[in-house]
Amino acid sequence: MSLESLAVRFGTPLYVDSADHILERLGLFQRALSGREHLICYAVKANPALAILKLLAERGAGFDIVSGGELERVLAAAPEAVDRVVFSGVGKTAEEIDRALAAGILEFNVESEAELELLATRAKKLKRRARFALRVNPDVFAETHPYISTGLHEHKFGIDIRQARRIYREAGGNRWLEAHGISVHIGSQIRAADPFGAAAARVSQLVAQLRQDGIALQSIDVGGGLGIDYHDGRFDAASIVREYVGAIESALAGFEGRLLLEPGRFLVAQAGALVTRVLNVKRNGRKTFVITDAAMNDLIRPALYQAYHEIVPVRPRAGKSRVVDVVGPVCETGDFFARDRRLAPVRPGDLLVLLDAGAYGMAQASNYNSRPRAAEVLVVGAKARLIRRRETMEDLLATERV
Ligand code: LLP
Repeated sequence: MSLESLAVRFGTPLYVDSADHILERLGLFQRALSGREHLICYAVKANPALAILKLLAERGAGFDIVSGGELERVLAAAPEAVDRVVFSGVGKTAEEIDRALAAGILEFNVESEAELELLATRAKKLKRRARFALRVNPDVFAETHPYISTGLHEHKFGIDIRQARRIYREAGGNRWLEAHGISVHIGSQIRAADPFGAAAARVSQLVAQLRQDGIALQSIDVGGGLGIDYHDGRFDAASIVREYVGAIESALAGFEGRLLLEPGRFLVAQAGALVTRVLNVKRNGRKTFVITDAAMNDLIRPALYQAYHEIVPVRPRAGKSRVVDVVGPVCETGDFFARDRRLAPVRPGDLLVLLDAGAYGMAQASNYNSRPRAAEVLVVGAKARLIRRRETMEDLLATERV
């Protein structure tokens, strides 16, 4: 598929996602887990495009949602998959809980005792028994960016694993609550398998204790978080998934129930790219700035997490590469995609592509600097389909009154 023709047809900045790549990644998880009952609950937040949700639902995936908005997306794209939805998040509102109860989701991943009480109240009110899993905080350290690490006591996520046994026992007295599973999520962009194994081992131990208490949980949800290599896209994804699943499986030995996974990034990051056009090449003192029509509002990962994304010209020119900063038009010094990066020569009008932008790219786009959000295209086989039109100036002003 020619990115150049897509850029001409749909304009830039443009997100382009590959359906085949996403399904291939889903298949890796499904095959690695074929030996046990499982459900891959795609973390909608990574890329919430309706077309992607539908694609994954058709292949049997479920979903991990964290808001009422994400629930509406699943209901709009794949209503038949609502019984494969787990609802995570530290601050669910009564309205969100009601909607999810009425829709009949698989389970609520509950992050505090107060939330469990709220869930019980709403369940009683709606006369719908609520299946829940406590999201426990296993106090496991995983090497990643501090903003996306979640598994330590000092983080806001989950319930102290030492309190969980008592809470499950107490919940047993409430007929509106069904202890369905247990969940854990230690962070995102984690490249090693060990921390996942360590977290699963702690959960597994708790599940065994609960069994002694007469509480038989049906599922263990080990969350998402498996990282990719942003520097070298050609790593062996299949063996990484096998190693990851292997670490979890060996920690869960003896558990007969269903295993839930919540991968986001690993499914969609490398399936997506951001195509942008060079507006200008500018020199200031010793520095050269390549100014693109995409900016931090389109892809905030470099600004927010000092994330690295490879940048390549769509049609490379001959000549000497140069060390440049690749920046957007937003009025902030933090609006950069790369600093002091060696890049092949580019001229105004050239197209560049930012790789591995399929996860948390479009998903975190904003209208900062009153910039309409980009369009998004899904490539299926040899066909490209617009799955999200570019925002217009009208869209930009639509919700406001003078
Ligand atoms: N489950 C829960 C409860 C989560 O909080 C997350 C991500 C996931 C699953 C999916 O994690 P993944 O497999 O995608 O690593 N915006 C950041 C990443 C934030 C991750 C938040 N939680 C980034 O651009 O790197």
